[in-house]
Amino acid sequence: MHDSKSILKMTSQSTEQEPVIFDQTEISSFVSGFLQRRDVFLQACHVHGSPLYVVEESVLIERAEQFTNAFCQVLPDVRVYYAMKSNSHPLIVKTLVNAGLNLDVSSGLELQIALDSGATDIVFSGPGKTEKELTFAVENCDHTTVLIDSFGELELLQRIASEEDTSVHAGVRLTTNSKGLWRKFGIPLKDLSQFLDTAKYSSHVSVQGLQFHTSWNLDPYNQVDFIARLGDTLSKLTFEQRSMIKFIDIGGGFWPSQGEWLQFSNTPQSHSSAITACHYKRQSTTIEEFAEQIAQAARTHLFPYVSCHICAEPGRWLCNDAMHLLLTVLDKKEKDLVVTDAGTNAIGWERFETDYFPVINLSRPETIEHKCSVLGSLCTPHDVWGYSYWGTDIQPGDVLMIPTQGAYTYSLRQEFIKPLPAVVMLEKKCLKELD
Ligand SMILES: Cc1ncc(COP(=O)(O)O)c(C=O)c1O
Repeated sequence: MHDSKSILKMTSQSTEQEPVIFDQTEISSFVSGFLQRRDVFLQACHVHGSPLYVVEESVLIERAEQFTNAFCQVLPDVRVYYAMKSNSHPLIVKTLVNAGLNLDVSSGLELQIALDSGATDIVFSGPGKTEKELTFAVENCDHTTVLIDSFGELELLQRIASEEDTSVHAGVRLTTNSKGLWRKFGIPLKDLSQFLDTAKYSSHVSVQGLQFHTSWNLDPYNQVDFIARLGDTLSKLTFEQRSMIKFIDIGGGFWPSQGEWLQFSNTPQSHSSAITACHYKRQSTTIEEFAEQIAQAARTHLFPYVSCHICAEPGRWLCNDAMHLLLTVLDKKEKDLVVTDAGTNAIGWERFETDYFPVINLSRPETIEHKCSVLGSLCTPHDVWGYSYWGTDIQPGDVLMIPTQGAYTYSLRQEFIKPLPAVVMLEKKCLKELD
């Protein structure tokens, strides 16, 4: 199993915000929103079995519209690419493509799913692309833009495209933090001028844009900060170099508006305080505020130098709220300890040792939280869903729901001891029928 927090933080570089106590009435109203529709979820479990991932089509479509509107209202030309790594289920990918989004892929495997979904505008980013993956991208160059990660990759892509006797659209990824593990992504800003000059002589690779990505952003600070640094670099390029740049891709890393919810043990307070009762939260900025501040930075630092459109690659912001996990209590071993039919192999990491999400007892609905260890059925003590449940009681046979588990869970699931849950999509019309 993965080391807990490292997964969502795998691309993190921001400084930590101090968590605050998470108001119990706010959690209660979040829980009650799902309880109002409990029949729909219970019915899905009854028909499709347990454990089960449930995808809500309407939530995905709403998020796609809200994200696109937020950016389109403040920037003249924006293109949104869903980062498939956050949840690569083909139904989710296809729903977002049908809702008008483009796709961001990071492997040949993801590129295949993207092409199968009918996407016609795909960016292929990421370090360490293999020759086979680049060849696949070149074969599908009508629909694919390669975001090149290094000088070596430019050379390889040029060779492949020339052997295929074609020309491929491309961009170059920029390193946002030249220290530590973040050095592995892209080229440093100081090398951009040299890269553009080299690309000019790469007859089969048409470099037309720049990409960067920052992550774990509860607010737009990292994106805005890098845009300012990029602007400084752009100001020093020649006119010819600047006119090559037709797009700037600002990557993903937009934290969902619900914020980050933490178990008490995962807070700085746990080291010093005597209080143990509450859950904690880090606040996040609305997507409209992200868009406003990023647009302001682009107007100040980018548009004076380049005439380009802006691309964004949101992942978790789009899919997080659209997928829930349903599981069933198998065994009640103590008054405060139950074992469920799903193990955390369904989400691929020990998320709930550090993150808090309400475990909702759909079978015994109530907006009251009780202490109880809700554990999975894997042969490891780290197989934890939570340390409490919301309901009147908890008994074998009860169906539990852990809502909003769409991002970096399904794509990290792993074959380990127990079978993986099936996935079911609650379509807009189907939800209506069941209501
Ligand atoms: C290049 C790139 N773009 C987009 C994303 C999506 O990030 P998020 O899901 O945080 O929006 C990632 C995630 O690691 C990434 O590496």
